[in-house]
Amino acid sequence: MADQQNSPAGPDLSQGVALSEFSGDKLLGHVGDEEVLLVRSGSEIFAIGAHCSHYHGPLADGVVEGEGVRCPWHHACFDLRTGEATRAPALSALPVWKVEREGEQIFVRQKREQVKPRIKGVVDAPARIVIVGGGAAGFAAAEMLRRQDYQGSIVMLSQEASAPVDRPNLSKDYLAGSAPEDWLPLRPDDFYREADIDLRRGVEATSIDTRAKKVLLAGGETIPYDRLLLATGAEPVRLPIPGVDQPHVHMLRSLANCRAIIASAKEARRAVVIGASFIGLEVAASLRARNIEVHVVGLEQRPMERVLGAEMGDFVRALHEEHGVIFHLGDTVSSIEGKRANLKSGGVIEADIVVIGVGVRPRLALAEKAGLAIDRGITVDACLETNVPGIYAAGDIARWPDKHSGESIRVEHWVVAERQGQTAGRNMLGQREVFDAVPFFWSQHYDVPINYVGHAEKWDEIAIDGDIGARDCLVRYKSRGRVLAVASIYRDVASLEAEIAMEKES
Ligand SMILES: Cc1cc2nc3c(=O)[nH]c(=O)nc-3n(C[C@H](O)[C@H](O)[C@H](O)COP(=O)(O)OP(=O)(O)OC[C@H]3O[C@@H](n4cnc5c(N)ncnc54)[C@H](O)[C@@H]3O)c2cc1C
Ligand code: FES
Repeated sequence: MADQQNSPAGPDLSQGVALSEFSGDKLLGHVGDEEVLLVRSGSEIFAIGAHCSHYHGPLADGVVEGEGVRCPWHHACFDLRTGEATRAPALSALPVWKVEREGEQIFVRQKREQVKPRIKGVVDAPARIVIVGGGAAGFAAAEMLRRQDYQGSIVMLSQEASAPVDRPNLSKDYLAGSAPEDWLPLRPDDFYREADIDLRRGVEATSIDTRAKKVLLAGGETIPYDRLLLATGAEPVRLPIPGVDQPHVHMLRSLANCRAIIASAKEARRAVVIGASFIGLEVAASLRARNIEVHVVGLEQRPMERVLGAEMGDFVRALHEEHGVIFHLGDTVSSIEGKRANLKSGGVIEADIVVIGVGVRPRLALAEKAGLAIDRGITVDACLETNVPGIYAAGDIARWPDKHSGESIRVEHWVVAERQGQTAGRNMLGQREVFDAVPFFWSQHYDVPINYVGHAEKWDEIAIDGDIGARDCLVRYKSRGRVLAVASIYRDVASLEAEIAMEKES
């Protein structure tokens, strides 16, 4: 008997489908073993791979906008004509097929040859581009430079021992033990060689000579540049309490940090997580998946209330409690003596492992020393250029004029960092592309994904559609009637539509 689970979905498109069967804007079918999505956009019909190249999200459940289809899970976008991943977090193109019409039938039989991305082009090619940072923004910039056919030299400096990795996974599936380590690299090692990107790992840039246009490394070497991208990200805040330097006390930013947590977790029966925000709670969920008793200690009265509001905060707390997490809210750890984590309130938790996730600080030292304009982040213009021409900044360190909120904002989101890296990459080639993406982030707690579009530091009203407790909701954060941001659980289409509406509004 055929394996129903593995058989591809929908009609066999090579045998043809009647136009009358294709009434909406998408139809999922297959060609051989491959699932293919037929998409109608205007008067044209396209055929594209049906699964997102980020985490395999089902594009059939996404939204078509112009000549792009957007993924329901983390809002990547693919060009229907070329298959190119035009918006991160997806970076790899999808296959596209030829669509043939015979009378009232549509046939899909043949893949198009790898179609070139729509290149914006090199207006002003610098000979040497240096990128400081081997994370989301740095990697996305380097990859985009080569996608744009840039032929000059790219040097990418990273303090991390590993090549760029999928950092969000470090608090989720990889930490939980459900994703193997070979899922983590954004690209395999030979990508850098083949793309001629000189990735230097484990090196620290210590200063920038903006007049001589050189980056100085810790070992004394200098690296000249014509254009420079700063993408140094953020680092976890250190808690100024006794006992944080012990081997069982961890912070989480890099793959090396994550490996150390996993090694400690192997022998652990009980963990204390200090910090009840996104990273702390994702770590809590992952340690619960390893059957470790988890205590979360946080200063706030409700987890995530500052970002998501009281109702979502209560939901997140209840969700973690359902999975056995024990909260100590309105409290903090005042010292760690061996295995004893001493609470400020007077209690003691005996823990084999402690993970501190109390927020991050942007890594601004290089920029400050070089005299770049700083305002709680590196100040950049709408094209992500700093006040020193030729030096750009992107990702967690950059404060940019966000046209949607009308404010200068700095956020710590993976997708924003990647998209800014891509824009900065194109702008280093002489484009003047304005960074105008609506901010987006996601967070995952057990089987519950929370998606967030927009930016709301304050609001005067929260409007809830659906039922948060039933994990089916769209929460709008409004100020004077205007929607600033939208959080959602299992309302992916509505979340994408909110994103598109915000793009059109401003
Ligand atoms: C565990 C974890 C989970 C996360 N999950 C999510 C999520 O689910 N959703 C979401 O939206 N965001 C998430 N984030 C946040 C997201 O990862 C960041 O916003 C994103 O990585 C920022 O990208 P970046 O390029 O600015 O910085 P990073 O990715 O941190 O990269 C910075 C790079 O710069 C290098 N560097 C810094 N200083 C120097 C120097 N002087 N010399 C050389 N190299 C230097 C660092 O070594 C690093 O390679 C998560 C973060 C963590 C740590
Ligand atoms: S699975 Fe498509 S964007 Fe993540």
